[in-house]
Amino acid sequence: MKVAIASDHGGINIREEIKSLLEELNIEYVDFGCECKTSVDYPDYALPVAEKVANGEFDKGILICGTGIGMSIAANKVKGIRCALVHDTFSAKATREHNDSNILAMGERVIGPGLARDIAKIWLSTDFEGGRHENRVGKITKYEAEHI
Ligand code: RB5
Repeated sequence: MKVAIASDHGGINIREEIKSLLEELNIEYVDFGCECKTSVDYPDYALPVAEKVANGEFDKGILICGTGIGMSIAANKVKGIRCALVHDTFSAKATREHNDSNILAMGERVIGPGLARDIAKIWLSTDFEGGRHENRVGKITKYEAEHI
């Protein structure tokens, strides 16, 4: 598995926490910033990561900002992206099993590094269940193909 990770200035600490988790799990990743010496704009980080996941260059993406909301809104504008904003471990598992989410967004001003690590670990290790969920996700993909 290859993971693309990025944050804005509001998500640097959790980004570092998740990078250390990825190293522990021996998961290949590329950090797309930010350098965050000043305040930056989250779409400049969310959109390139989302495009790299959508085009298959990376299997999954992880995006962090202050709330996770801006990152998830931006990432979900990219065709083929199912970005889940997650702040609890139940949803981390459910969104992989049910939605086949391919990007995880979290907010550093919402949760601490320990919970973010647990969420990412569960999200990275949970498979899509398929079955009835395949049909539901398929309806989103069909809509994208026809309208976007
Ligand atoms: C930056 O101040 C903040 O707006 C950003 O990190 C994020 O929370 C946006 O949704």
